[in-house]
Amino acid sequence: MSLPAPRRRVAVVGTGAIVTGSHLPALGAHADRVELVAAVDVDERGLDAFRTVAGARVAGFTSTEAMLDAVRPDLVLIGTPPALHRAQTVAALKAGAWVLCEKPLCLSLAEYDDIAAAEEASGGYASVVFQHRYGSGAVHARDLITRGELGTPLVAHCQTTWHRDAGYYAVPWRGRWASEGGGPTMGHGIHQYDLLLHLLGEWSEVRAMAARLVHDVESEDLSTALVRFRDGALATVVNSVLSPHEVSRIRVDCADATLELTHLYGHDNDDWVYTPAPHVDPGRAAAWRAPAADVPSSHTAQLGALLDAFDHGERPPGSGPDARATLEFAAALYKAAFTGRPVRAGEIGPGDPYYAAMHGDHPDWAPKERV
Ligand SMILES: NC(=O)c1ccc[n+]([C@@H]2O[C@H](COP(=O)([O-])OP(=O)(O)OC[C@H]3O[C@@H](n4cnc5c(N)ncnc54)[C@H](O)[C@@H]3O)[C@@H](O)[C@H]2O)c1
Repeated sequence: MSLPAPRRRVAVVGTGAIVTGSHLPALGAHADRVELVAAVDVDERGLDAFRTVAGARVAGFTSTEAMLDAVRPDLVLIGTPPALHRAQTVAALKAGAWVLCEKPLCLSLAEYDDIAAAEEASGGYASVVFQHRYGSGAVHARDLITRGELGTPLVAHCQTTWHRDAGYYAVPWRGRWASEGGGPTMGHGIHQYDLLLHLLGEWSEVRAMAARLVHDVESEDLSTALVRFRDGALATVVNSVLSPHEVSRIRVDCADATLELTHLYGHDNDDWVYTPAPHVDPGRAAAWRAPAADVPSSHTAQLGALLDAFDHGERPPGSGPDARATLEFAAALYKAAFTGRPVRAGEIGPGDPYYAAMHGDHPDWAPKERV
């Protein structure tokens, strides 16, 4: 009989809103598999407040390097502003830990390739948080699509129509290429189109537009894209922080059914609706209903999937090619929008300005000090 897997020693880097509100409850839900041993934040008051909630046995540090040296955790959860993700992920991998980092995993494909090199050198893995892939509704939908149960995917809509006010953008790291990496394409809509890519697989071509219509930001506050998938399906993608009636939506019309997901910041089984085509036998359509177990999309669900992979010594979901594909889609959307030309999958490599930065040094979009 094999021994149960050991409890993993976990550290968090960043103790702000997402770590306190989502990672800490996820750690609590998996308390039999993980032990939170350390927390890092440069803001000592925030760190103290976090440790008050998380428990006195959680060691506090104001430096990630000092924490890694002293604690040698098995797993590091990163919830700092995006500009810090690459360096903190690489440092944690070098210290022998696995990483689960908030979205976006890093600011560019060049930064991603640094992380991939650090994975290769360390033997560890770095996953990105895209919690919407992990709810039972999404797992079921992907299974139905990939098994061909719904027929060939033909046309899809992917909509992130959210609303963010000036107060939201008053936080200094938001709305700037160097610190946030982009606007709603990188920060908000990335959840929904990550799920679309997860459902429909590889894309082949992107055409796009971006605009800065309302906010005093460097990056866009709105983007739209047309996407051709490798298997022929066409999709539209909208990433907006300008939309008073907020909704997150994915619709995929397949030959035998329409699949619709409607939610805002998280889904459960009831948020998924399947409408059969007229020619479909009702008995077949009944089998599409969501699974009996209802696992909401959440950090808890994703952490569980990562811990399963850890126990099996396997690459965790949301790492490697999965993580890179979503970042490549973001880079392609920006390149297509800013150049006005279609972008093909795989074309953005070293030497391409959109490999190094999402703004691609485009004179109308790059930070002013860079042009
Ligand atoms: N998955 C999701 O649904 C979701 C939702 C919201 C935010 N996020 C992501 O989470 C990340 C953090 O967002 P947030 O809203 O929690 O921000 P936040 O500002 O509330 O928290 C960030 C924390 O990082 C700390 N920090 C800054 N520099 C640091 C450093 N060098 N070392 C250690 N700590 C440092 C800050 O002091 C702060 O406590 C972002 O990447 C964001 O995109 C994800």
